Amino acid sequence: MKDLTFGLIGWGYWGPKLARNLDTLPQSALAMVADMDAGRLAQVAAQQPWVKTTTSAEDIFRADVDGVVIATPVRTHYRLAREALLHGKHVLVEKPLTDNVADAEELVELARERGLTLMVGHTFEYSPAVNELRKIVRAGDLGNILCVETERVNLGLYRSDINVIWDLAPHDVSILLYILGETPTSVRAQAHAHLTPRIFDIAHLDLGFGGHMTAHVHVSWLHPCKIRRVTVIGDQRMAVYDDTNPAEMLKIFNKGADVHADPVVSYRYGAITIPHIEWVEPLRLECADFANAIRTGAQPRAHGGVGLEVVRILAAAQETVGSARETHAAELVMAGS
Ligand SMILES: NC(=O)c1ccc[n+]([C@@H]2O[C@H](COP(=O)([O-])OP(=O)(O)OC[C@H]3O[C@@H](n4cnc5c(N)ncnc54)[C@H](O)[C@@H]3O)[C@@H](O)[C@H]2O)c1
Repeated sequence: MKDLTFGLIGWGYWGPKLARNLDTLPQSALAMVADMDAGRLAQVAAQQPWVKTTTSAEDIFRADVDGVVIATPVRTHYRLAREALLHGKHVLVEKPLTDNVADAEELVELARERGLTLMVGHTFEYSPAVNELRKIVRAGDLGNILCVETERVNLGLYRSDINVIWDLAPHDVSILLYILGETPTSVRAQAHAHLTPRIFDIAHLDLGFGGHMTAHVHVSWLHPCKIRRVTVIGDQRMAVYDDTNPAEMLKIFNKGADVHADPVVSYRYGAITIPHIEWVEPLRLECADFANAIRTGAQPRAHGGVGLEVVRILAAAQETVGSARETHAAELVMAGS
């Protein structure tokens, strides 16, 4: 007996992965898929022939579905999510929530007013490895955190509507906020557009968290290797989360350096431990959290407020680079810091 139904908008690269997970949750079913490209809809019939299809997102807003999942290009997120909320639907929108702060604020407020769930597809917040890393960091096992470095680089996928900051950095920024539990007080970015004028394909973000803690995010569409790595440097131990290495996704290095008497530095070299991680596909956990939020009214982990926070940081980073120039760096202290 199914008690929850979903409509999905967008059957491109990511939509089919969401569809597979939404349709196999207990007591849930994917009822309808919309994509403006009729050719792509033909693929729905091949993967999930029992699911209705339409070329109009409006049909999903009017359909008898509880939740709407939006996997369309970023520039469309605000309009589609707003319409869905206005039609009384709970919404899971892919990352980033929107492409500007004002739209994200409006969506969060609209969902709050209507008592609806608004969730964002920060998939890595559901990764069992990221959750283990968060547990280790929060328990103080690494000591005081000095800095975090993230790398998310590969060749492509080039996008034409957004730059690499808005495409890839949402993942790293959401991971940072999630594991550290702190909001940055300053953001500075440097970005370059090598292939397409004004669309940055390589970017470096520096985040300050007050005190001594800093984070560096490197994202790129122009790199020969696929790297998805988060390195956390504590004053006692260090941790490396490598999403491309399923057998050893998380390693804890009992390594460090101490200054005894300036300029005398001693180095500690200890064992490397690899925690066992019970693996479940993060996207499945994300979809299950959406279903649970709809059923119980509980706040999902990647709720709209977190989505807004990430958009604020991306917008601040973008601001420091300057949208009209191809290469430039400046510093912006975030509002409220
Ligand atoms: N969480 C993740 O790890 C992850 C990974 C990849 C992509 N994404 C996100 O998923 C979203 C989609 O990315 P993608 O790579 O699948 O893009 P895509 O371009 O491959 O697919 C987008 C689809 O949306 C359809 N579409 C566009 N506007 C529409 C509208 N108004 N109504 C109906 N259909 C419409 C297009 O026809 C296309 O089929 C983006 O927000 C992206 O950031 C998330």
